[in-house]
Amino acid sequence: MVFPKLVIQTGIFAYAVSSVTAVDISVSSTGGNATNGHQYGFLHEDINNSGDGGLYAELIRNRAFQISEGFPATLDAWHPINGVELSLKNLSIPLSDVLVTSMNVAASPEQGEVGFFNDGYWGMDVKASRKYSGSFWVKGAYSGQFTASLQSNVSGETFGTANITSQSTAGEWTEHEFELTPSKDAPNSNNSFVLTFDASGVSGGSLDFNLISLFPPTFRGRKNGMRTDIAEALEQFHPTLFRIPGGNMLEGLTNRSWWDWKNTLGPLKNRPGFTGAWGYQQTNGLGLVEYLEFAEDIGMEIVLGVYDGLSLNGDITPESQLQYYIDDALDEIEFIRGPADSKWGSVRAELGHPDPWKLQYVEVGNEDWLSGGWETFKEYRFPNFLSALNEAYPDIQVISSGSYYDGYDIPQPAGGDYHVYAEPDTLVAEFNKFDNITTPHIIGEMAAIHPNGGSGWDGPQQPFPWWGGTIGEAVSLIGYERNQDRIIGAAYAPIIRNMNRWQWAITMIQFTADTVTRSTSWYMWELMAAHTMTETLPATSQFDPLYYVAGRNNQTGGHIFKAAVYNSTDGVDVPVKLAFEGVAPGTSGELTILTGPEDPYGSNDPYTGVNVVKTSKTTIRSDKSGNFQFNLPDLSVAILDTSPATTRRWNRTTRRKT
Ligand SMILES: *[C@@H]1O[C@H](CO)[C@@H](O)[C@H](O)[C@H]1NC(C)=O
Ligand SMILES: *[C@@H]1O[C@H](CO)[C@@H](O)[C@H](O)[C@H]1NC(C)=O
Ligand SMILES: *[C@@H]1O[C@H](CO)[C@@H](O)[C@H](O)[C@H]1NC(C)=O
Ligand SMILES: *[C@@H]1O[C@H](CO)[C@@H](O)[C@H](O)[C@H]1NC(C)=O
Ligand SMILES: *[C@@H]1O[C@H](CO)[C@@H](O)[C@H](O)[C@H]1NC(C)=O
Ligand SMILES: *[C@@H]1O[C@H](CO)[C@@H](O)[C@H](O)[C@H]1NC(C)=O
Ligand SMILES: *[C@@H]1O[C@H](CO)[C@@H](O)[C@H](O)[C@H]1NC(C)=O
Ligand SMILES: *[C@@H]1O[C@H](CO)[C@@H](O)[C@H](O)[C@H]1NC(C)=O
Ligand SMILES: *[C@@H]1O[C@H](CO)[C@@H](O)[C@H](O)[C@H]1NC(C)=O
Ligand SMILES: *[C@@H]1O[C@H](CO)[C@@H](O)[C@H](O)[C@H]1NC(C)=O
Ligand SMILES: *[C@@H]1O[C@H](CO)[C@@H](O)[C@H](O)[C@H]1NC(C)=O
Repeated sequence: MVFPKLVIQTGIFAYAVSSVTAVDISVSSTGGNATNGHQYGFLHEDINNSGDGGLYAELIRNRAFQISEGFPATLDAWHPINGVELSLKNLSIPLSDVLVTSMNVAASPEQGEVGFFNDGYWGMDVKASRKYSGSFWVKGAYSGQFTASLQSNVSGETFGTANITSQSTAGEWTEHEFELTPSKDAPNSNNSFVLTFDASGVSGGSLDFNLISLFPPTFRGRKNGMRTDIAEALEQFHPTLFRIPGGNMLEGLTNRSWWDWKNTLGPLKNRPGFTGAWGYQQTNGLGLVEYLEFAEDIGMEIVLGVYDGLSLNGDITPESQLQYYIDDALDEIEFIRGPADSKWGSVRAELGHPDPWKLQYVEVGNEDWLSGGWETFKEYRFPNFLSALNEAYPDIQVISSGSYYDGYDIPQPAGGDYHVYAEPDTLVAEFNKFDNITTPHIIGEMAAIHPNGGSGWDGPQQPFPWWGGTIGEAVSLIGYERNQDRIIGAAYAPIIRNMNRWQWAITMIQFTADTVTRSTSWYMWELMAAHTMTETLPATSQFDPLYYVAGRNNQTGGHIFKAAVYNSTDGVDVPVKLAFEGVAPGTSGELTILTGPEDPYGSNDPYTGVNVVKTSKTTIRSDKSGNFQFNLPDLSVAILDTSPATTRRWNRTTRRKT
């Protein structure tokens, strides 16, 4: 659909030539509400390799020989070098109780340099200048060197090598660690990790390997951490709310395969992995501590989902067995924020985190209104969790995984969670949705996914976020932000998409082994999240086609106005006349306007990253009556911020401009 061309120039005072009357907005200086400062964020879970093979920086696929459905052993991703025989063995001495299957590499002495390679998650990004950190466990008598290298899977060219002197013996497992710095960049991502050894130095005819791992430099240098480029694309939209660990991943396919946080702690050899919710093996490498450290690094508030006795297949825990899961949730909370001398707080301290993390929001389950869970959720699961959590942690805001709108009169003092995947018209129509709801809510998952036209839930999704959808999201976000005294925050979901294996098309960020691209929605969320209000302020309300919220930030001293225009009459610009009570005439403010391509169905190119979102920044001044006057084009998003240094960013950790 092509919209009419803009007929009126954008610019200060240009409204005077418009035949359209200006939207006249006056903002009071009193009567507002304090905000919590974390309105914008995202949900992360390992949907179709967006954790393993995605945000989690591990380059080796299938490092512990598991594929799933209860994790039957596999050599998937492993390939022999120089005619060796690779096989799986459950040795009488396993690496650990949970990683019991290892890879046996059998070679006769005259075979010379032998080994195996792993082709990664659709390749591996290899760059000179990066120091890769590797490790592997081996058992078997070998005197000699191991050679680790990164090679092209296409040409065989070697980009970097490390020699590791064997410490391996026949009687036990020995870990070998190494660093590898390539001497040149690989031309593409079709690369493999190669590990070889000299067969003539082996006695016994074979060696056994397990937990073979390789990490590029990670975000903030965290061991076992996040992939830098993806983490940076997330950090750069200034998220302040982080909902983990799902989503469906929390619930699991059955009540024997949910995301059990206790399996995600400590050394990798003690993490069994699990079947996940999308049919492939998940390593448990991206565990609770890794998520918490990531939240800490970026300055995000956690919304922690706890398993509540509902899985995707409809397994429901009877009330007589529910206490086990309530206790498990209490243990998890104690692990996160209990004192270092408490039972689980001491486990945290042993893992190197004596100081408690902050945890203010705990969500019970995920989408309990699905999978046949709603009746038992309302009847006994939620009430039992709520009273136990409230009693142990009165300051924690407990959240029901369903909302007021799913038909639950949520018992107080709990909050709700509303999920919306919709077409832009719906997101716009829901602008007022939370105006009269007194219960606090998070918007735990949201995104524009369908084109306008009522295709319904099962209808086709757009192939990528598109500008019209982004504007729909902006209108809903502004609606939430107007109700910041009760709306805890909104989370985009799912957040990232592995372009090699995806199920859900619409994500804020897309990636391959060596690329990361930002969608139209990323640019809008970035702008919205960059201007934090500490207080909303009452403003004249005449919405449609202009939707807005006003407030101020008590640290920057700025007054803030956020707006979006959706379907103006004949597509003309909307003139705005805006006055903040108490803001002197002649005050300057920075006006940022985002506009999109002429075709509202235009998307950012997920392969090249070509961005169709245009950003204009101008400094404008209020006139002698104190009015800021400007025009906003149809399908635009805008922020006016009068803080003296609007080019600087609000740092949520320090609560200061940086
Ligand atoms: C600024 O606003 C926040 C949130 O509303 C509030 O917690 C804080 O006390 C305020 N600070 C000052 C100096 O008014
Ligand atoms: C070896 O261990 C795997 C688990 O990794 C298990 O699925 C398999 O049944 C075991 N095989 C044998 C022969 O015990
Ligand atoms: C490189 O890897 C990609 C993804 O696995 C594959 O589609 C492509 O065909 C490969 N290219 C070559 C030259 O092997
Ligand atoms: C790498 O090469 C192996 C065979 O040599 C092949 O099976 C695999 O698909 C290749 N991987 C990629 C990512 O191209
Ligand atoms: C590894 O060892 C081989 C042979 O011993 C040697 O040629 C090579 O330079 C060494 N590589 C590194 C990175 O030390
Ligand atoms: C994503 O995961 C689902 C569930 O395992 C699977 O059915 C689907 O094929 C996956 N999508 C792709 C493109 O691999
Ligand atoms: C697991 O689900 C089954 C129903 O499918 C139920 O009978 C059983 O009690 C559940 N177990 C637990 C511990 O929740
Ligand atoms: C909220 O309540 C006001 C006052 O009763 C009413 O005018 C308005 O229509 C209600 N809004 C919604 C979305 O229900
Ligand atoms: C402040 O909160 C009250 C109670 O929720 C609400 O009625 C009022 O509209 C809010 N004011 C602003 C400016 O958000
Ligand atoms: C807005 O305009 C688009 C494109 O013409 C159309 O699909 C959509 O239904 C309109 N929505 C409303 C609420 O007018
Ligand atoms: C905010 O300030 C803290 C403390 O000085 C710093 O560590 C952090 O990097 C800053 N965050 C951003 C996004 O600049």
